[in-house]
Amino acid sequence: MTRVLVTGGGTGIGRAIAQSFAASGHDVTIAGRRKEPLEDTARAGNIAIRLADITDEAQVTALFDQPYDIVIANAGAGAGTRVVDTSLEDWERTLRVNLTGTFLTFREALKSMQSGGRLIAIASTASLQGGANIAAYSAAKHGVLGLVRSLAQEVARKGITCNAVCPGFVDTEIADEAVRNVMAHLNIDRDAATARLVARNPMRRMIDPAEVVAAVRFLASAEATMVNGHALSVSGGEI
Ligand SMILES: NC(=O)c1ccc[n+]([C@@H]2O[C@H](COP(=O)([O-])OP(=O)(O)OC[C@H]3O[C@@H](n4cnc5c(N)ncnc54)[C@H](OP(=O)(O)O)[C@@H]3O)[C@@H](O)[C@H]2O)c1
Repeated sequence: MTRVLVTGGGTGIGRAIAQSFAASGHDVTIAGRRKEPLEDTARAGNIAIRLADITDEAQVTALFDQPYDIVIANAGAGAGTRVVDTSLEDWERTLRVNLTGTFLTFREALKSMQSGGRLIAIASTASLQGGANIAAYSAAKHGVLGLVRSLAQEVARKGITCNAVCPGFVDTEIADEAVRNVMAHLNIDRDAATARLVARNPMRRMIDPAEVVAAVRFLASAEATMVNGHALSVSGGEI
């Protein structure tokens, strides 16, 4: 297995995943909407870039004009609002990028993945538990697990596995956005907001992107052949 696709590979967790696979000699492609972060990540070498919006069916189809052995559906975005303040537009946008985007990515990946492969979704602890002010994100990420567990059964006899990694708060842009939401919502400073967010993690700290990478590398490895339909929590024991 050598060809790896990472959606949302220009920043944060996706960048760390892409650079890890590239550093160990895999042929890596990263996809996202903005060229600059993709180019920045690709400077590490061994990484090709593709511009694609994973919520757009035609753009996802075009992304799979070449086959991949390992496909990591990492692109996602959070929105932090109470249900009563969530517009239908925000709700649908959150479901579209986190859930529909993962569906389109895996569906198109499967069309060219004939003899073995790995499908890995970057889900969340919000896939495993709800939380105030994250209903749309949590619903979408719960949906990702439904997709992963169902697809795992469909592909089990084709040498393909489908799994999810469920991180708690990881030190990236998306976590920073969550910190800013808590600051605004509760009118508290950054340190206090960060402390509230990591309070759910028994280790009381943000997770390093490298710790998520390690889980992804395991699920993508030959040793994980029998791990299928699993949600691997990387959360210090949060859930
Ligand atoms: N950080 C955390 O605490 C945390 C915890 C649990 C789970 N996660 C999950 O981990 C994944 C990566 O998040 P991150 O923390 O690394 O955040 P991030 O740095 O904001 O990365 C998100 C990536 O997704 C891409 N993206 C967003 N919408 C897209 C779209 N429509 N089409 C294509 N690409 C799109 C973005 O690139 P463009 O904007 O250029 O398209 C960006 O590179 C997400 O699924 C997130 O839900 C994160």
